Amino acid sequence: MDDSLIIYVVASMVTVMAISCWRRRCQKSLAPVPSGYGKVFKSHLFGKPTIVSTDPEVSKFILQSVSEDFVPFFPGSLTELVGKSSILVINGSLQRRVHGLIGSFFKSPILKAHITADMQRDLQEIMASWRDDQIVYIQEEAKYMVFQIMVKTLIGLGPGEHLQFLRHQYQKFVAGIISIPVKIPGTRFYRSLQAKKRMMKLVKYIIQEKKKNNTGCISRDIIDAFLNDGSGQLTDDLILDNVIDLMIPAEDSVPVLITLAIKYLSDCPLVLQKLKEENTKLKHKSLEGEDLQWMDYMSLSFTQNVISETLRMGNIIPAVMRKAIKDVEVKDHFIPEGWCVLPYFRSVHLDKEIYDDAYKFNPWRWKDKDTAASSFTPFGGGQRLCPGIDLSRLIASIFLHHLVTGFTWVAEEDHMVNFPTVRMQRNMPIKVKRKNIDILLS
Ligand code: HEM
Repeated sequence: MDDSLIIYVVASMVTVMAISCWRRRCQKSLAPVPSGYGKVFKSHLFGKPTIVSTDPEVSKFILQSVSEDFVPFFPGSLTELVGKSSILVINGSLQRRVHGLIGSFFKSPILKAHITADMQRDLQEIMASWRDDQIVYIQEEAKYMVFQIMVKTLIGLGPGEHLQFLRHQYQKFVAGIISIPVKIPGTRFYRSLQAKKRMMKLVKYIIQEKKKNNTGCISRDIIDAFLNDGSGQLTDDLILDNVIDLMIPAEDSVPVLITLAIKYLSDCPLVLQKLKEENTKLKHKSLEGEDLQWMDYMSLSFTQNVISETLRMGNIIPAVMRKAIKDVEVKDHFIPEGWCVLPYFRSVHLDKEIYDDAYKFNPWRWKDKDTAASSFTPFGGGQRLCPGIDLSRLIASIFLHHLVTGFTWVAEEDHMVNFPTVRMQRNMPIKVKRKNIDILLS
């Protein structure tokens, strides 16, 4: 049976089970300590008894918990593909060390300055090739663009044959992330493992070359940052697994964030108008000869609100999964050892009690709302809070700025799908028209 069919059947079963559990949850209590009527209920996911939390307080508790209580849980296929040293699966002091290292690297103002300059240059080049009335597939363009930027940031590899090879292999690798873990030639999982091996060979070669020439001073990319760590804890295998896994958001989450923002903007002319006004002011600065810096983009408050609202409604990562390694009690709920817990962000982000008119794309709501509140967790939280927050926002802001100040567009028919990952089904086709620079200056 074809992999995709198996996934479809399993997914349908999981969905049906989840819905029936959802329906029953009003009558059933959470064993062994009753939860009563509420937002926390039992289910069965990926073959594991699972407690689903749609309660922000319970979810916050789980996210903030230490690895002595909960560890990440992933379906079998994912664990094998990401590798046993990946930050996604390691725990304790090693996870904290790798998380800290990645976090401080991505927070570095020097890195942000490089990314801003590279991205502005690459975007201008790409957008210069767009012709009037051309159909541009935003999701594809964003994937191409972000992958190029991220690979440079992660392994120092610029455009060329190797980058193309890496991207090709990467697409095969990612395609197997949600698949049945059957290691037989011809299955998606097998192809994915083979692609990872080929990528590892290339990245291993780069690591070795860097080791030969490494002076231990400046970290130009994440491999340098790992090699300069000096703790002796970070083996080559750990560096390899993590460098490759860090490409996942480049090919998926960040491009999808950009794509969904453009989808919502296309549906909401008032929001688009306000975004254009804010970005046109910034464009004047660059037309007057000033180079735009990363802080210029991050200070665009309405643009940041558009990004927050896209994250809230789009739910690019709708949930995370943890496994209890001992009995845990939280807010009258008892989570037995060995059970999984799924803090389900999507329900919270679309909860009418928390967000007025929750299904309306309304960036103005963020004017007085705290993006650090426990009810807003698009990047997770606690010790495993995504270290790529600033970077994702920066890349999305730069993309939006160049699009809204350089072009007008009409979106073609497309729709969002949520399974197995969030994306636009037809890659978000838009028909673009270049803006007249004189109009912009007037
Ligand atoms: C829109 C973009 C992104 C979204 C929505 C997102 C979301 C998330 C979420 C929800 C988690 C928490 C997972 C958990 O608690 O188990 C996470 C973790 C992580 N993210 Fe992101 N992410 C994005 C972009 C990025 C980028 C650009 C990078 C860096 C290249 C990145 C690197 C990571 C890493 C390394 C972790 C694991 C942290 C750990 O387990 O210690 N993410 N992300």
